[in-house]
Amino acid sequence: MRDEWVTILDNRKINQAYWKLSFKSSFLSRSVLPGQFVNVLLEDDSDPFLRRPFSYYRTKNQTIEILYEVLGRGTRLLTLKKKGDRLKVLGPLGKAFTQSAKGKKQILVAGGVGVPPLVFLAEYQRVSHLLIGCGSKGEVLPKSELKNVKAQVGYATEDGSYGKAGFVTLLLHEVIQREKNPKNLFIQTCGPHAMMEAVIKMARKFGIEGEASIDERMACGVGACLGCMVKTHDGYKTSCVEGPVFAFCELED
Ligand SMILES: Cc1cc2nc3c(=O)[nH]c(=O)nc-3n(C[C@H](O)[C@H](O)[C@H](O)COP(=O)(O)OP(=O)(O)OC[C@H]3O[C@@H](n4cnc5c(N)ncnc54)[C@H](O)[C@@H]3O)c2cc1C
Ligand code: FES
Repeated sequence: MRDEWVTILDNRKINQAYWKLSFKSSFLSRSVLPGQFVNVLLEDDSDPFLRRPFSYYRTKNQTIEILYEVLGRGTRLLTLKKKGDRLKVLGPLGKAFTQSAKGKKQILVAGGVGVPPLVFLAEYQRVSHLLIGCGSKGEVLPKSELKNVKAQVGYATEDGSYGKAGFVTLLLHEVIQREKNPKNLFIQTCGPHAMMEAVIKMARKFGIEGEASIDERMACGVGACLGCMVKTHDGYKTSCVEGPVFAFCELED
């Protein structure tokens, strides 16, 4: 792990939901795995004081891409950054998604801020399905962003303007119903808490193993402030160091 000043190469809006930012760093891009993240200091005068965590979206030739949604002050400030501006970036942080799903079919279920790490995972290794939930068609990723994903991609939109109408769990349910033995599936999920709760509930009902990236609000990102605790069967754990990826079986109902 290292805290580095990096220079922004590009920062642009790609659709109604997401902006994409890129920068170069040989250290921060080395041996990175999907599910890991960086903690970004937005201004060097420390306002806002707390860093903002973002998953790795893609790394190629030492260039790192971050895909982000604009939710509050920090991410709004990030949209103002231009090519040549500098950011202080701490990383790589956190535990990645499991690389071996014990030969099971990997089904990725993503929504909102959980889309970037799961697109990265679907590019990194061959998975069976990438299921993405969002509000409407304007939030669907441009095709160019998914060109290296070999999986079957399914979209669900809440207003029915693209793909399946409704929540992404409808798509997950269809995939499970089509599988002779659902226990041959392995689900990996990241997104809004309500979405992940529904996914985990469905997985438990069908006896399916999996893991979830619990993106708790974070401050230090290195296990020091205890601000990101997740309740597990083994007591409270830090999401930033012991997670953010946890097995479903570790998490409390
Ligand atoms: C490990 C990790 C990886 C993340 N990866 C990404 C990513 O790749 N892309 C991305 O866009 N965002 C990601 N996030 C979420 C991102 O850190 C927050 O959206 C960001 O910190 C919000 O900062 P803000 O100042 O804009 O909003 P704030 O003013 O701090 O908050 C505004 C609103 O944003 C929402 N929010 C804040 N933090 C989170 C969070 N952690 N999860 C969900 N909602 C939140 C809350 O509803 C809050 O009311 C990640 C978070 C974690 C912990
Ligand atoms: S963010 Fe400080 S302990 Fe996790």
